[in-house]
This record gives sequence, structure tokens and C-alpha cells, in this order.
Amino acid sequence: MSQDIDVTMSEDRLFPPVQEFVDKAHIKSREEYDAMYKESIEDPEAFWGRIAECFTWTKKWDRVRNWDNAPVAKWFDGAKLNITENSLDRHVAEGRGDKVAIYWEGEPGDSEVITYSDLLERVSKAANTFKKLGVGKGDRVAIYLPMIPELAVTVLACARIGAVHTVIFGGFSAPSLVDRINDCSAKLVVTSDGGYRRGKVLDLKAIVDEALENTPCIEHCLVVKRTNNEITMKDGRDVYWCEQHEGVSSNCPAEEMDSQDPLFILYTSGSTGKPKGIQHSTGGYMVGTATTTKYIFDLKEDDVYWCTADVGWITGHSYFAYGPTLNCATQVMYEGAPNFPDCDRFWDVIEKYKVSIFYTAPTAIRAFMKWGDEFVDKHDISSLRLLGTVGEPINPEAWMWYHKKIGAKKCPIVDTWWQTETGGVMIAPLPGVTATRPGCATMPFFGVDAAIVDEKGNEVPTGKGGLLVVKQPWPSMLTNVYGDTERYKEVYWSRFEEQGYYLAGDGAVKDENGYITILGRIDDVINVSGHRLSTMELESVLVAHGLVAEAAVVGYEHDIKGEGIAAFITASNNVDQSPDNRDLLKKYVAKEIGPFARPDQVHFTDALPKTRSGKIMRRLLKDIAAGKELKQDLTTIEDVAALHKLVEKVQAELS
Ligand code: PRX
Repeated sequence: MSQDIDVTMSEDRLFPPVQEFVDKAHIKSREEYDAMYKESIEDPEAFWGRIAECFTWTKKWDRVRNWDNAPVAKWFDGAKLNITENSLDRHVAEGRGDKVAIYWEGEPGDSEVITYSDLLERVSKAANTFKKLGVGKGDRVAIYLPMIPELAVTVLACARIGAVHTVIFGGFSAPSLVDRINDCSAKLVVTSDGGYRRGKVLDLKAIVDEALENTPCIEHCLVVKRTNNEITMKDGRDVYWCEQHEGVSSNCPAEEMDSQDPLFILYTSGSTGKPKGIQHSTGGYMVGTATTTKYIFDLKEDDVYWCTADVGWITGHSYFAYGPTLNCATQVMYEGAPNFPDCDRFWDVIEKYKVSIFYTAPTAIRAFMKWGDEFVDKHDISSLRLLGTVGEPINPEAWMWYHKKIGAKKCPIVDTWWQTETGGVMIAPLPGVTATRPGCATMPFFGVDAAIVDEKGNEVPTGKGGLLVVKQPWPSMLTNVYGDTERYKEVYWSRFEEQGYYLAGDGAVKDENGYITILGRIDDVINVSGHRLSTMELESVLVAHGLVAEAAVVGYEHDIKGEGIAAFITASNNVDQSPDNRDLLKKYVAKEIGPFARPDQVHFTDALPKTRSGKIMRRLLKDIAAGKELKQDLTTIEDVAALHKLVEKVQAELS
């Protein structure tokens, strides 16, 4: 496999941090980083134990790291805590209750300012409300909300009472909700009447209603009023947030949790059809996310930090709901689209709140570039001092635009590589230390023992592509796949069982400075606008449709989204292969999984290109979808004539 990982990038521009930034940074020199990194790898217990001392624990740990039962790690084994005491009560007790926690900006232009005292009060009230609805420690709560303050409140309120939250991104459809709710047997679902997106109301409650027809585990549906559109409320099951909050106490003592108790489950696509419930536990996740937030974003007391990710994804968990609140940061939360009412909305928000740290996805940066500099020029964004990217590789052209146009050549860009599973950033520049390079995630964070290996687990030479692995456990790592420890072991730890390495599923290459560049997934996972989708999942949805006999789905290079989705279909007998039916299949996938999974291309073909042993030649399909000339050796293909016909057809359909 590693031989297949091509290294085609040759980027050698380096951008050291400007002196003014270095002077004030938490970590200022390579020597400092090297010494801290060395200790974190050689003596992780001392390193993380010292950091953990700064948090509030109701009982201290017996061991910082227990790896006896590998690959299930126990961080801060034996310790007791509640994460919200650390992200809320602690700050209020220190006299920082009046500090702004969230500047919330609604898409229509309404806004709210929420201090840490307010947030604690709102979280406590919601926590008591959930209790009233029969939710307790260990119960699962599904959250399907737009980016409104109640989303942050709900996540933290679950943590307050020890309920395990599973946030489901608002772009998922009813069948996806059903799968996730049933997989973890959630008792309560929290949603809203709607949310605003590009000036329209997204009718979330109707999607939940459809899902709840098939989720016997759900006892209550708690509905936040946001858009006041008409919805149906089912007697006995559906209740309004505002009504349930009436008369509820704003004092809710935090539930004492074991460090290993699950904090949340977040579903993500793997290389098989069924999404995996990635489970994170409490103590390690807290220490890991708080520490990465502090150092990688160089977070300070006066910063206004804005991570644009939706809480439906891991980035919104670790770098909105938890990491920044644990650091008592002031954050921006924005409800809607970046191009509403116009393409300058983000720059407008940055100007309005004087955002100093801005963290977004390459797909958004590519869209901003396309929309044009004039939208940026309308605003004073000089408050910015640090920029970040996450979710997918950033092409050097977009990186340079971000650096010059948004960062005014003075803001370090932290290109952060990590995953739902890793819980926190693993590889990224340290902004006061690392000379950044366009498209390169650069250096491993403290405690991240990253290596690039071949099939056998041997490190590959510098400059050669290989499989990215992590050789030791780290605090914010996943602790299980919900309800399926075998799958957890199989997917992440079985490939290098002997060595005990975590398999990330990405290809990577290291250069002579030790800089790591991520080359993309090595499995059948595609990355569309920074969202992970499994080609297997898409294929199994497609073949369930009556029109489809066989389906192959691939990602192909896409200007804005990073990867586009192309589906190649052999049709069932006598099916009309018309544009209408191609369109129908696109809509069907959007309905089954969610609008963000809608294929960009659907092509019917007489036969899928396969090797004589029956393997679909996906690389070939990728090139066909991207409109590239085919340079592969076609002699091993079973039906070359059908392939040529397909190429012609696709060219005609794309032109
Ligand atoms: O392929 C890598 C890509 O996104 C995958 C993880 O996706 P997900 O679990 O949805 O989490 C995304 C947000 C953390 C990785 O396996 N990826 C993530 N960040 C980067 C990246 N690829 C290149 N560079 C990055 N900075």
C-alpha cells in the first residue's frame, strides 16, 4: 500500500513567525518545544500529570496513564471530576463570571452576549430540565440543533449531569438520525422548530418527526423555539424548551464522574457502510483539548476566538464547546451561512467582534477566494493575529491567499491535522515557534508519537510516503466504538497489533526537518468540504434503490469542496438511463444521508471497470470523473470496450 502513496508536492517556501508574535507567544523557541516534546514522549506521566494539576478534580488520579489493557487507555485512572466545573464554575469562582463566554450572532442579524456566569446559569437550568424529563447519568441524549446558544448549553448540560451527548449535524437526514439514535439508544432528543440558513428556515422538527417514527428508544423530544414556524407537537412526547424551563432551579450541582466515564459519542464514517460511534471519555479528553487549545491557538486572556465549525462535527466539540471554555476564552458563535446576506458575512463578524483568532476549513477559504477580494476589502479585519485550518489538506494556493489577504502576512497559520478519533489536534505548527509551509501540518504536538511507516510497520525514509501511525496513547484519544470494542480494536489497532500502533488511515510524508505533510486518506473514505463520507456507505445506500444494480462511488478533485462525489451506476434491467433518473438518484442520496452527501455526478454505465479478479478500479473512475486523460495500464480490465464507452459518455455528460 505505501508504495501506492505518491508524493507529488514540492513546496519549499517557509514562513517563520513575525517577531512581534514570538515575543508574546506561550512557547517562543524551538528549544522550548523540543524540551517539552521530549519529556512528553519519554515521560508522559510526568508531563501530563503536571498539566492536569491545574484542573479541578474531586478525587485525584491513581495513575496518569494506564495502558495495561491496551488498546484501551485509561487516562487519569481513578480520578473523579466534572468537566463543566472546569469549563464554568472554576472561572466564576475565580471572579471571571463577567467575562464574555459567547458572542452569538444569528443569521438574520440578531445577537446575544453570554458571560460565563450566564452560561453557568443556563447550563444548570437546562441540566435540571433534562433531569425532570427523566435523563440521568449514563443516559444518551441526541442533539439536532442549529448553531444557537441552546446547542452549547445542551452539550454542557448533558456533561453536567453525566448524560452522554451525541450531536447530529443539522445537515443529516431522517434515516441518518434513525441510525444514530437507535445505535446508542438515546432517550431524549433536543431539537428546534427550525434554523436559519441562507435566509431560509430549515425545518428541523419535521425531519426529527420523520425519524422518531422509527426510534422506539426516544421518550421525549425537547423543542427550542427559534424560527417560530409551524410545527407539529406530539402529545406526551414533544415538549417546548421554554415551557419546561419555567420554575426550574438555576442551581444544579455537577455530577461526579469517573475520568473514564464516556463524555460523548460522535458518529463518523469509516471504510465500511455503518457509521461508527466514536466514544470519548472525560478526564483525558478534558486535559488534551484544553492543552491543545492553549498552545496551538496561543490563546490569551484578551483574545476573541472564532472557530467556524458546526458543533455537529468534532471540531465544534473540541474547539468550541470544550477546549476554549476550559480556557475561559471569549468566543464567537455564528448561526448561518458565510454568504448571507452577502459574501462578506464572515469579515463583517470579524470586524464587529474584533476577532483575533480565526479557525476555519480549507473549503471555506477556497470559496472566499472565488467570491473575490472586494468582500474582504470592505472590512477592517486587522484585529486578527492567528489563523487556523482544519479538516482536509489545504492547497498551497489557498494557503497563500489566506496568508496574504486575511493574515496580512503577519498572522501565523496553524494547519491542524487531527480526526474525530484523536479528539484533539495531533500535528500542527506551534505558532510562536514553527516556520510554516503552505499545505504542511508540520510538527507533532506534545505527547503525539507520530511516525510514517510501511506495510510492515517499519519507518519509511525521509521523503517517502507511508502510513501515518501514532506509537503511544495520547490524552484526548477515543476510548471505544460505542457498543463495539471489537470494531475499535479491528479498525484502529489490528493493522499494527504487534507494535501497538494506532492507524490513522491517512498517508503522510516527512521531510528532512521532521515536517509532516498529510497526503490524504488511504482507505475508502472521501473528504467533501472537510466532512468525512465513506464510499461504502454511499454505495450501500445507492444499491438499495430499485434503479441500481451495482454502484461505485469515488471522490475526485473538486475546486471548492476538495473532493466531489461521483457515482457510477450499472442499472437494473430496463431502467431508463435518462438525466431525470440521474437526478433522481442524486436527490435520493441527499434524502437518505443528508444534503451535504448529494453526489455531484451520477453516471450510468454498462459495466464498472474491474480487474479480472473483480476489483473495481477506483483510481480509474476518479480520473474519469475529474475529466483527466487515462494514463493507467488498461490491459488488466475485464471489459475495455465498456470502459471506452463510459469515458465518452461522461465527457458528454460533463460538457
Ligand atoms: O484525512 C484527514 C482529514 O480529515 C480526516 C479526519 O476527518 P474527521 O474525523 O471528520 O475530522 C475532521 C476535523 C478534525 C483525517 O483523517 N484531515 C483533517 N485535518 C487535516 C486533514 N487532512 C489534511 N490536513 C489537515 N489539516
